Amino acid sequence: MSTTYSLGATAAFGLEGVVAGELKRMGYDAKGFHGGATFSGTLADAFRANLWLRTADRVLIYFGRFKAVTFDSLFEQVKALPWEEVLPRNAEVYVTGKCARSQLMSVSDVQSIAKKAIVERMKGAYGLNWLPEDGARYHIDVHIHQDEAALTLDTSGVGLSRRGYRTLNAEAPLRETLAAAMLLTSPFRPWLPFYDPMCGSGTLPIEAAMIALDRAPGLKRAFDMEKWDCVDARELEAIRQEAQERFEKAKKEKSVEIYGSDVDGRVLRLAAAHRAQAGLNDFICLEQKALADARLPAPRGAVVTNPPYGERLGDAKAAQQVCRELRELMQGNDDWTMTAITSSRDFEKVYGRRCTKKRRVYNGRIECEILTYIPHSDRVAKARRLPKEHRP
Ligand SMILES: C[S@@+](CC[C@H](N)C(=O)[O-])C[C@H]1O[C@@H](n2cnc3c(N)ncnc32)[C@H](O)[C@@H]1O
Repeated sequence: MSTTYSLGATAAFGLEGVVAGELKRMGYDAKGFHGGATFSGTLADAFRANLWLRTADRVLIYFGRFKAVTFDSLFEQVKALPWEEVLPRNAEVYVTGKCARSQLMSVSDVQSIAKKAIVERMKGAYGLNWLPEDGARYHIDVHIHQDEAALTLDTSGVGLSRRGYRTLNAEAPLRETLAAAMLLTSPFRPWLPFYDPMCGSGTLPIEAAMIALDRAPGLKRAFDMEKWDCVDARELEAIRQEAQERFEKAKKEKSVEIYGSDVDGRVLRLAAAHRAQAGLNDFICLEQKALADARLPAPRGAVVTNPPYGERLGDAKAAQQVCRELRELMQGNDDWTMTAITSSRDFEKVYGRRCTKKRRVYNGRIECEILTYIPHSDRVAKARRLPKEHRP
C-alpha cells in the first residue's frame, strides 16, 4: 500500500474550500478545484480521508488523465493504464461516464469503450480469455471535459453523507455533509453550548456532537476499498481502531452541551432513534417545543439551524413567522451567535438584521445561503478562542 496516488475528495458546489480545509487540517497539501479538492497519498490515506472527511461526497483515485478526441485514442489510452496494479483478476468492473463540451459526447459509447479497454488490459495481464467479474466491485468513472479524459476509481462506495446513523425518513432532512459544512464554517465551537431549535430528524445536533467528541463520521460504515485485494486489511483496521479510541477518549474527557428541539413530536422520535444509532444518547438533549416557547439553554453558545424554507415545507408566510420567532429567540442574547440555512432571499429583511457573513450552497437542487450572525462583542470573540485544555 506504499504507492502514492493523486487523490480527489469531491464536494457539492460551494463546499470545495471547506473540504480542502478539512484535508489541510488532516495534514495533506490539498488544493480546492471546481467540484472538490485534490491531494496525494497512499491507499491508507484514501481510507483515512473516507473515515474522517465530514463535508466530502466521495474519495477518488485519479488513475489517468489524457486528451481524447476519438474513440480509438480513448480505447488505446485506457488500455495503456496499469489496471492490474489495483484490479484483481476477478474484479467486478463497473464503468460510468460523463461528457461535456467535448468531441466525444456519447456517454454510453465512452462507457462501453472504456470498459472494453480495461477488460482487454486485464485479460492480457492475467493471461485470461474472459474475466469472471465475481469479486469485489470497482467503480471507474470516465469524465471527459473539453476533450480531457479523467479516469477515477471510487474508493468510497455509497456517498460519504451516509454515515449510517440516519435510517428513518423525515421531511426535508439536511444532508449530513451540508450540516457538517454549516457547523465547520459557523462560529460553533466544540467547547461551547450548541442549540438547534428546529432540529427535525436531528442531523445538526448529531453532526455537532460528532465534531465535539472527535468522532470520525465514517466510523460505523464500510467503504468499497475495504473489500479490495490491494489493500492491507490490518492497516485499515488499525486506522479505524485509532478513530474508535479517539472517540472513547473524548467521551470520557470532554464535556459537551448539545441541545435540539422541534415542535413536531413525530420527527423528534426519529431524532432520538438517530441519536441512539450514532451512540450519542448521553450527549444530546432533545425536547419537543415550539420555537415561540424556546429559550436559549445557556448563557452563551451557537445556534445553528435549518428552518423551513417555505418551498418544501409549509408555505412562505409560515416560514416568515418562523424567521420572526427566531429573531425573538436571539433578541438581547449578545453572547450567542446564530447560523441558518435558507433559500429565502427575504430572510435578512424579515429577520430585521444584516448577517455578518454568508455562503452560497445547494441543498439538493435548491440554491441556498448559509447566513451567520455574530454579535460584535469581545466576549463572543474570546469565548470562541481555543481554551487551554483543548489545545493539542
Ligand atoms: C427543514 S426541517 C429541519 C430538518 C432537519 N435539519 C433534519 O435534518 O431533519 C424544519 C423543521 O422545523 C420544524 N419547525 C417548523 N416550524 C416550527 C416551529 N414553529 N417551532 C419549532 N419547530 C418548527 C419542523 O417541524 C421541521 O422539523
